[in-house]
Amino acid sequence: MNILIIGGGGREHVITKLIAKNPKVTKIYALPGNGGISQLAECVKISAEDINSIVSFAKVHDIDFAVVAPDDPLALGAVDRLEDEGIKCFGPTQKAAMIESSKVFAKELMKKYGIPTARYEVFTEIDKALSHAALSDCPIVIKADGLAKGKGVTVAENFQQAKDAIISCMKDKIFDKSGERIIIEECLTGHEATVLAFTDGKTIVPMVSSMDHKRAYDGNRGPNTGGMGVIAPNPYYTPEIADYCMKNIFLPTVEAMNKEGRTFKGCLYFGLMLTKDGPKVIEYNCRFGDPEAEAVLPLMKSDLLDVMTAVSDERLADVDVSFTDGASCCVVCASSGYPGHVLTGYEIDLGESENLEGVEVFHAGTKLEDGKLITSGGRVLAVNAVSSDLESAKEKAYEAVKLINFSGMRYRTDIGSI
Ligand code: AMP
Ligand code: GLY
Repeated sequence: MNILIIGGGGREHVITKLIAKNPKVTKIYALPGNGGISQLAECVKISAEDINSIVSFAKVHDIDFAVVAPDDPLALGAVDRLEDEGIKCFGPTQKAAMIESSKVFAKELMKKYGIPTARYEVFTEIDKALSHAALSDCPIVIKADGLAKGKGVTVAENFQQAKDAIISCMKDKIFDKSGERIIIEECLTGHEATVLAFTDGKTIVPMVSSMDHKRAYDGNRGPNTGGMGVIAPNPYYTPEIADYCMKNIFLPTVEAMNKEGRTFKGCLYFGLMLTKDGPKVIEYNCRFGDPEAEAVLPLMKSDLLDVMTAVSDERLADVDVSFTDGASCCVVCASSGYPGHVLTGYEIDLGESENLEGVEVFHAGTKLEDGKLITSGGRVLAVNAVSSDLESAKEKAYEAVKLINFSGMRYRTDIGSI
């Protein structure tokens, strides 16, 4: 089989690594890929958002199966366009991807089908949004409706912060069209949990739960990032909670999407808050999380490509999807300045990190230049260790991180400890 992977981060690296293990695979292409992926696949400089070029490439290279991993190409309809050409895909159609690409759509879906989530109001006029914020008890949460590179959410501690966020979205238009409509919602408290689930629209199979660490600095301080580290499983996600979520959140979501004529096939991401009134949905994503994928997928015992093709063929119920009883700890090594402006182009020394048992180093912002591995982005590496329990996974992950070096390298030292 000829496989096409769309994307070029740590998530796409772990996916490529697992797919490469399937004996049916003859060739893997990645658009655009990265330094790590290039050791397993042919990387071609086509942007993950350039849908016309992706479709032409897939046709010319006889692609049998494509994995569309990031949010932007899914929202732009990459799966629809590839499937129109007869190329099977893992990933939702544009209509189904709306569960992530419009937060207003997701909230209305949850309200209509009784799926637990935070109370909210939608605003298209700045004056009304500002008066609502002025009358609300803080903290409140301001969310841009559309995709905003993970930066569209503000948890406002006071009215001034809420006002700044509303003005940035609706007047200054820092997220362009994505911020023309906003949501103001109740701030939930509790432990956060992520559950990724395979679904073909008929069956839903949750993967091992996980916990992302979104803030930039230790102690959950500093600005939000794409994710600085993950542990899996999530220690707060008990079997009772899993059972509740299956009945009240996961199955109803799949059913709701079917009823709306937007059958979801792919990986559905549930961002949950485990509140004292039970789990509630904070957000849906229409894809694997990054770095959640780098911690969760290494725990998978079943063959990833077999599961992905079963999702695409709507026969997920017929395949085995199982995970080990072990635990993962994934630590992101970022460039200094991330999530703000970063300098790149520094040589990366991986030392002996990859020789440690259970450790895998997934590349996010790296590229190969004249045989040298060079930094090329904010999040550079996702270092994951799998072990029998969380404590030893943490120890191993940090042992590996200490063997890695590049100029300006920065990481959180408390992944899994808070
Ligand atoms: P996102 O950018 O959508 O991943 O959201 C970023 C973070 O904002 C989430 O991981 C939560 O920590 C926080 N958040 C979003 N919505 C709420 C809410 N209603 N209550 C509390 N925190 C929230
Ligand atoms: N790590 C969060 C996300 O992928 O959206």
